Amino acid sequence: MALTDELEGLRSDTLERVARAEDLASLDEVRVAVIGKSGTLTSYLRNMGNVAKEERAEVGKAVNAARQAVEDALETRRTELAAAELDARIQAGAVDITLPGRAQQMGSRHLINRMIDELNDIFLGLGYTVESGFEVETDYYNFTALNAPADHPSRSMQDTFYVKDLSGDAASVRGESDVLLRTQTSGAQVHAMEDWELPIYMVSPGKVYRRDVADPSHLPQFHQIEGLVVDKGITFGDLKGTLEYVCRAIFGPDRRTRFRAHYFPFTEPSAEVDVSCAVCGGEGCRMCKHTGWLEILGCGMVDPNVLRMSGIDPEVYSGFAFGFGIERVAALKYNVPDLRMLLEGDMRFLRQF
Ligand code: DAH
Repeated sequence: MALTDELEGLRSDTLERVARAEDLASLDEVRVAVIGKSGTLTSYLRNMGNVAKEERAEVGKAVNAARQAVEDALETRRTELAAAELDARIQAGAVDITLPGRAQQMGSRHLINRMIDELNDIFLGLGYTVESGFEVETDYYNFTALNAPADHPSRSMQDTFYVKDLSGDAASVRGESDVLLRTQTSGAQVHAMEDWELPIYMVSPGKVYRRDVADPSHLPQFHQIEGLVVDKGITFGDLKGTLEYVCRAIFGPDRRTRFRAHYFPFTEPSAEVDVSCAVCGGEGCRMCKHTGWLEILGCGMVDPNVLRMSGIDPEVYSGFAFGFGIERVAALKYNVPDLRMLLEGDMRFLRQF
């Protein structure tokens, strides 16, 4: 029958177009054209009135069957295309995680902290204890008990940051209070002598402060390690032997050391120790100001007056003391040309150590 053949043709033609639709938009065009309000298949339903009565049932059945088949095919294809489009979107947005990951940068200890550990270890190996001191001290511990009473000329060797007492009624030193940022770790000696049983073999590393302008060889804030030995029968020979051993432990057996007479208020006799310059090997260069030597520490036999002020009988006990500048030791060991690099936090420099 012509009408059912026509419907069969429309049906198979539509199923083919559905199968060929490549995206959801073109699939929808097929739907509108065939089963939309004025679609080709819909128009058969609309025109059923024109079909001869005896054929109506059969044609109606065929139209409905065709409509059902088209709807099923549209649904199946829609599911397929939606899945493919989702897939494509996922592919397009995908992040390639097949590359090796970037390693996190590890931090490292600051050179100064490493030097402090290294120095502590050397002294621990000699049987010394390691003590912490106070960065904020009183004038008594930083100066007076170290044999530098008020107006003693040695005080001007170290320009001091005083802590202002805002209450205004503290004992006044230079118009300020007697509380200060320590200029040297030597105050730790006084605390040790006051607080401890004898004998004493100790070092005390830490930060110190001075009113200095930063330049290649000075910093307004730096570190020292203080040492103190008080025992019976301690001589300058013990001091010299100990410090020569320590300098070799720090700098290696090739660096030479020399002792130069010097003055410190709390030691008598006093000396400064130099090591040979590693930059020029002792020939003389800018680093060592053309002397071939670099000063690294001050030392001496503890002045009897200092022992007495802290309650120790100098007739029974004697001792020696020393103080290293840690930035200086680090600079000399690793040839750092400018101490300010140790304060600046530039990772390109710091990561080398
Ligand atoms: N406190 C001195 C300074 O800052 C260094 C020093 C010298 C410490 C001699 C000592 C010492 O204990 O005996 O320059």
